[in-house]
Amino acid sequence: MMRIGLLGCGNIGNLLAANADGFTIGAFYDLVPERAHRLAKRSEGVAFETFEAFVDAEVDLVVEAASNLAVRAHAEAVLRSGKDLVVMSVGGLADRTFRARLREIALAERRKIYIPSGAVMGLDNLKVGRIGGIDTLVLRTTKSPASLGLEVGERTLVFRGRADECVQAYPKNVNVSIALALATGVEVQVELWTDPDVDRNIHEILAEGPFGDAYLRIRNVPSPDNPATSYLAALSILVLLRDLGEPIVVGT
Ligand SMILES: NC(=O)c1ccc[n+]([C@@H]2O[C@H](COP(=O)([O-])OP(=O)(O)OC[C@H]3O[C@@H](n4cnc5c(N)ncnc54)[C@H](O)[C@@H]3O)[C@@H](O)[C@H]2O)c1
Repeated sequence: MMRIGLLGCGNIGNLLAANADGFTIGAFYDLVPERAHRLAKRSEGVAFETFEAFVDAEVDLVVEAASNLAVRAHAEAVLRSGKDLVVMSVGGLADRTFRARLREIALAERRKIYIPSGAVMGLDNLKVGRIGGIDTLVLRTTKSPASLGLEVGERTLVFRGRADECVQAYPKNVNVSIALALATGVEVQVELWTDPDVDRNIHEILAEGPFGDAYLRIRNVPSPDNPATSYLAALSILVLLRDLGEPIVVGT
């Protein structure tokens, strides 16, 4: 059975541990050691106090569910230790130079970097953008003021621009825009709205190109323990992990 190392034992980490089916979590690491220990106690895995010890553990793959900074700090070491990497904090891959470097390392080490669909749907087919092109690609995200740390009384546009610019302004809310840009190979026009009347994180994707046009609206149920994270995001990692062991894979 596939053995996983879990880098980040917060909301998503807990959901993964609670739903570990078809894989085991052999190693846990979190900046807050108690979080790693708490999860390790509930499984047969080991909680490590330092990243260096964690990355040496005998696992096949590391799932990052921590932060953009954790991706920047640790992705290279994970690949160099001979493990594949699942990146949940896709914002950590926003920088083109950093991404190119990781790609080179992954190629040299014969490792893979997997990016789950996360909080959206449709990334599978939107990849056609890399072949046939997409002329217009808009991501309109709407979140409650609380999940953006704002206080506003009416629907308000808080950001409009490119995905890599959004990363600077709203580092915790850009994963979807970067994932969309990486999947399609196309510049994404990002709009971030806040609306006191919404109780879900809403992502609308509008795409138009030689293939035709598409409109997707995903209304995400927030995770019970962290309203900024969609339950769908945790489910998408579970699906990815399950597919890794499957001989027939649908919709990649
Ligand atoms: N791709 C997507 O669509 C998508 C969707 C939801 C969340 N995310 C991202 O996934 C990540 C995890 O989300 P979450 O809801 O579990 O967050 P969370 O805040 O509940 O948990 C993150 C955990 O990681 C730990 N951590 C942070 N930096 C670390 C580091 N450098 N080394 C070790 N541990 C570290 C924290 O202490 C915390 O326990 C976040 O970065 C979030 O933005 C991505």
